[in-house]
Amino acid sequence: FEYIYLEEIDSTNKFAYDLGKQCKRNLVIVSKIQTSGKGRMDRTWISKEGGLYFSILMDISRVNPIEKINFLASVSVLETLKYFSNENFQIKWPNDILCNDKKICGILTELNVLKGYFVLGIGLNINNKIESSIKNVGTSLYCLEKENFDIKQIFEEFIKNFKVNLYMDNNAILEKYKTYSKTINSNVNLILPNKTVFGRVVEIDFNGIYLLNEKEISIYDVGDCIHLR
Ligand code: BTN
Repeated sequence: FEYIYLEEIDSTNKFAYDLGKQCKRNLVIVSKIQTSGKGRMDRTWISKEGGLYFSILMDISRVNPIEKINFLASVSVLETLKYFSNENFQIKWPNDILCNDKKICGILTELNVLKGYFVLGIGLNINNKIESSIKNVGTSLYCLEKENFDIKQIFEEFIKNFKVNLYMDNNAILEKYKTYSKTINSNVNLILPNKTVFGRVVEIDFNGIYLLNEKEISIYDVGDCIHLR
């Protein structure tokens, strides 16, 4: 990879996506803050100083099937967090990293199928304090450990893990993902663009989640999961 370090940008994903159009590849864009960080489903990602915000731009051919990218990313983030903290981190499908049911990391992958590349964007709350508006749903390493961390060191640990996982076979990644998953074997309401469906998650793979509802299994590849107790 080649690395670009910025002080400030609107969104590292947007920056990387534009470079992808110019046929650039194997780039990692890191920024101290983002003024308009993007989240999934058109949400925004608060990106104040103290967090880690970066995007990896790669050729689609490097990950097969391409659906694996979210699994690679979430497993690599989880392993990175485990290296720095003994808290219990879990992956909520598809790729939110939680600790005590609060989100510490968000992942947004954007594909450009026409030009054959993807942008993997990761936002990790490290030393940033969590705004009161999202205190109930978000956390940071600082909130968990009451100490500051070296952001660069965490970034480097992630890149190391990501490179190792990139060369692991598909089953091994899936197995790791499932051991870290909060979603597998639990009951969820899955919010789809036009409706909400309920079921027990009996399997997760690169096709999506397998929801069992009244003896019928349906597979979904998008949606927002609400975990039920
Ligand atoms: C989500 O959980 O909704 C995904 C959040 C992804 C945020 C990261 S921060 C770095 C990269 N640049 C962006 O604009 N978004 C991603």
